[in-house]
Amino acid sequence: MSTKNIFLLGLFVISICQCTSKKESIYAVSPDGRVQVDIVASQGKVGYLVKFNNIVKIDTSFLGFHFQGQPVLSQNLLISSISKSSFSETWEMPWGEQRIVNNDYAELVINIQEKVSPSRQFKVIFKVYNDGLGFRYDFPKQAGLKDVIIKSELTEFNLTGNHDVWWIPGDWDIYEHLYNHTLFSEIDALSKRNHPNLAQSYIPENSVNTPVTMKSQDGTYLSFHEADLTDYAGMTLVVDTEKLTMKSSLVSGPEGYAVKTKTPFVTPWRTIQITDRAGSLIESNLIVNLNDPAVVDEIPWFKPMKYVGIWWEMHMGKSSWDVAAGKHGATTKNAKRHIDFAADNNIGGVLIEGWNTGWERWIGFPDREGVFDFVTPYPDYDLKEVVAYAKEKGIAIIMHHETSAAPRTYDLQLDTAYRLMKSLGIHSVKTGYVGPIIPEGVRHHGQWMVNHYNNVIDQGLKYEVAINAHEPIKATGRRRTYPNEIAREGLRGQEFNAWASDGGNPPSHLPTVAFTRMLAGPIDFTPGIFDIKFDDYKPDNQVNTTLAQQLALYVVIYSPIQMAADLIENYDKQPAFQFIRDVAVDWEQSKVLDGEVGDFVVIARQERNTENWFIGGITGDNSKEISLHLDFLNPNIIYEAIIYKDGESAHWDTNPLDINIESRELSIKDHLKLNMAEGGGLAISLLVKK
Ligand code: NOJ
Ligand code: CA
Repeated sequence: MSTKNIFLLGLFVISICQCTSKKESIYAVSPDGRVQVDIVASQGKVGYLVKFNNIVKIDTSFLGFHFQGQPVLSQNLLISSISKSSFSETWEMPWGEQRIVNNDYAELVINIQEKVSPSRQFKVIFKVYNDGLGFRYDFPKQAGLKDVIIKSELTEFNLTGNHDVWWIPGDWDIYEHLYNHTLFSEIDALSKRNHPNLAQSYIPENSVNTPVTMKSQDGTYLSFHEADLTDYAGMTLVVDTEKLTMKSSLVSGPEGYAVKTKTPFVTPWRTIQITDRAGSLIESNLIVNLNDPAVVDEIPWFKPMKYVGIWWEMHMGKSSWDVAAGKHGATTKNAKRHIDFAADNNIGGVLIEGWNTGWERWIGFPDREGVFDFVTPYPDYDLKEVVAYAKEKGIAIIMHHETSAAPRTYDLQLDTAYRLMKSLGIHSVKTGYVGPIIPEGVRHHGQWMVNHYNNVIDQGLKYEVAINAHEPIKATGRRRTYPNEIAREGLRGQEFNAWASDGGNPPSHLPTVAFTRMLAGPIDFTPGIFDIKFDDYKPDNQVNTTLAQQLALYVVIYSPIQMAADLIENYDKQPAFQFIRDVAVDWEQSKVLDGEVGDFVVIARQERNTENWFIGGITGDNSKEISLHLDFLNPNIIYEAIIYKDGESAHWDTNPLDINIESRELSIKDHLKLNMAEGGGLAISLLVKK
């Protein structure tokens, strides 16, 4: 069993009240007493307010809906009854940042009745955790509401100050934007329209995508997101920069509405993480906890792994995805070269992009329907031979399906394509959705595509295939329920360093991603570029980090699949590559040792089934001296450590390859003071001494 309830506690209190008319307070408090949600009922409206350490962090924020063809559901409301309970369990992740997850919360359910016709009813369920809360609407089956078309959801998030905010625009088609750090009052999403490197982008209003992270003047961190996005549209947050409020804005489809459903239905959880330490945001399990337990006991056919691939060479222009260009990368010979390299270097998988027909017309064409074929290899790529060779060497082949945003073409072939994979023993696939979705007007983040992405996960489970989606819908913790949802892109990844006309990802990018995008779930960022300047291929581009940071990312940016993304020849005779050979990909526990949003972060993770530890630290624009107490190590073990750190003159731009590698013994008693350069990093492997 990969998921089990070990301990469940439920205190159940039901009180029936005409709560709206009385001055009775309704509230729920987290197990540690620090997070409190108060229900507000005023003049027929119902809302909530959130306190952290007794200070109001979300001021009165009202709830409601606008259904097509019906009066707006936000007035004339009465709380007819409430119920309260508390819950405590631990469950086990089949793979993840830690093995055991605590799930402790106080639950408050408010039943709401509309006082006038059509007398609609709904519940709002709040779960209050030590590190924040989630709430969702629950509409039962009822006479006044059968078929439902949601024009808009009217959930408010009313801030109590002009916070520092790390945000990307509320783009309905892509998350691959740089993070912006501004005051809330200065958010300007519309200025992010028309980025020249985005194959699709639609920013209709001044809104932000989630997770969006904030810091208040008193040092409280807030991050807003959603959990369990199922059969619903993705939520962006429209900002009112004067009133300092946000309101849910659901991604709409071509018909002009966001969601088509019928009662009974529930919305995704609206989540607010609240902590007084930046690192606690990363350690929080609120998003996964708000999802249901796994639908399968285990997926023994998927094991976390490192991988290499025929990938960066196309982004470098060394080879091409298509055959017509005359420098095809995905040949049988090149695939075997990568398999040999993986087998020699403790790397579990090989990704091969450009293996199947269709790449001649994959991007920039309006008629992309029926172009890609997910079972037919190009003539110079013998799929069966490659798979057999990999099997002999103990290497997993990672399938690649670029849909070019023609999901109906993919849907039609899903069954055949996944059957082929199963017959070949291929248990993971990287998917891609580059370009505007066909049919026109359908958005990557709307209900129709949410259902497509989720259907791919279902099919994957049926055929024993794990999914790593690029250009995906955001992660919302569904990996707890569907453990084959292994990783995704959904951010500006390493590829932008290869070709972005804006100079690539700045040093502050990843120290921001760790406290924003990473709160949603695993990231296929594809670290490990050693040829940082790659002047032989792209003299005008480069990676804006030091080499030490490229190593640190294997620990800092979590994913159960981690690519060693560079051309494999660039790892030849590189002492720093030893870290990639050694580093684990599945964790017993993780600790954020220090960090500040956008500036730096240091994380330590213990490998599962061993006592080995790995530490990764990264910086943004500023260098940072960190003080590391190794008090989390096993007191009975002496570790053989290798420290990979920025050299004296390391700097992401002027001297990115300056790295010092030092081997020494370390134990729980040791205390290290180490310097990370600008755009720099630090990686330490701590292997149990044999
Ligand atoms: C975009 C993906 O993010 C990238 O990794 C991939 O190489 C291309 N699409 C082609 O599928
Ligand atoms: Ca991408």
